[in-house]
Amino acid sequence: MTVITCIDDLKQIYRRRAPRMFYDYCESGSWTEQTFRENTSDFDRIRLRQRVAVDMSGRSTATQMVGQDVAMPVALAPVGLTGMQHADGEIKAARAAEAFGVPFTLSTMSINSIEDVAGATSRPFWFQLYTMKDQGFVSSLIQRAKDAKCSALVITLDLQILGQRHRDLKNGLSAPPKLTLSTMANLATKWRWGAGMLGASRRHFGNIVGHVQGISDAADLGAWTAEQFDPTLDWDKIAKIREEWGGKVILKGIMEPEDAQMALQVGADAIVVSNHGGRQLDGALSSIRALPAILDAVGDKTEVHLDSGIRSGQDVLKAVAMGAKGTYIGRAFVYGLGAMGEQGVTRALEVIHREMDISMALCGRRRIDELGRDILKIPADFEGHWAK
Ligand SMILES: Cc1cc2nc3c(=O)[nH]c(=O)nc-3n(C[C@H](O)[C@H](O)[C@H](O)COP(=O)(O)O)c2cc1C
Repeated sequence: MTVITCIDDLKQIYRRRAPRMFYDYCESGSWTEQTFRENTSDFDRIRLRQRVAVDMSGRSTATQMVGQDVAMPVALAPVGLTGMQHADGEIKAARAAEAFGVPFTLSTMSINSIEDVAGATSRPFWFQLYTMKDQGFVSSLIQRAKDAKCSALVITLDLQILGQRHRDLKNGLSAPPKLTLSTMANLATKWRWGAGMLGASRRHFGNIVGHVQGISDAADLGAWTAEQFDPTLDWDKIAKIREEWGGKVILKGIMEPEDAQMALQVGADAIVVSNHGGRQLDGALSSIRALPAILDAVGDKTEVHLDSGIRSGQDVLKAVAMGAKGTYIGRAFVYGLGAMGEQGVTRALEVIHREMDISMALCGRRRIDELGRDILKIPADFEGHWAK
């Protein structure tokens, strides 16, 4: 058995265990994947300042995100089809997050439903909403999230239309997988995954099937979801959803200061600087490069969170030292889940926590509120020099 010491160890096991179609779905960016690559490589450009002879005892990574206590400033990002990476994946990831003391965000496009996750956990989780054309369905999702006592609504703004990921088209991605010769040949080598799936409580999009009229099988569902995302979403609609929800609102997918200002105006409790993990607009800046300008614009007026590219506790440390109040991990937890189920998600969180804690100490800091840009060396050209 491999001794798991870093997120990449989990990724290697995940790669062996998950069906090719779902591994590719996770591990792709859109078009040329430039933004996907730079999301991680830009973290490497930031360096840490080592400090010595500073008392390192009594350290803590605990802090708050949208007023809620978290064991470290890391939430699990909403990831569609998590329950295809591992049987009952959303339930398992939510349980691991709860035990660790970090928020879990359930995607609209999850396999386990809102009710499944609520029934398997005892603390509130967050619900991520995709806005759809069918207003009645959006309202019913909001009501279901209220009934499940979700403690924040994360509204994703960067997917009114789907960015193209070549491999998903080539693989004919679907949930559950369509049984073509090549998928069957690949599934035959994934016995552990298949055995788990036989016992899974769901294999379709649990928030949708049974809640939308006329959706009875996977084929209807694929066509329905492709058509359903609302291309007319605008700030007025976002303000209305916020009113309808009435609780904490986090707006996800902000990459420009102008949009951050708009998010403030509609009363966001937090925004997430995110390019959807490089899966939407290829050619966009990495999130960590987009962060400073957004902090300058709204950092003193709302909570600014960040995702896209976090693969280690050092990445979290860099984002938080730069000024983010919290971060989210997408792929990093999926690697753990696909490798080892609930235990793998726990392992991913432990790895990140340990890396963050030790690095923070070696930078001479003991608490999150002591972190600032003075522990970083940021390249002078980090945000880029662009023509006006
Ligand atoms: C496989 C996969 C599925 C995703 N599905 C969703 C989704 O359903 N809703 C959403 O808001 N974001 C979704 N995202 C984006 C994540 O919430 C998050 O922004 C991204 O994963 C962060 O980048 P990282 O994977 O490099 O950590 C997805 C990301 C991945 C990798």
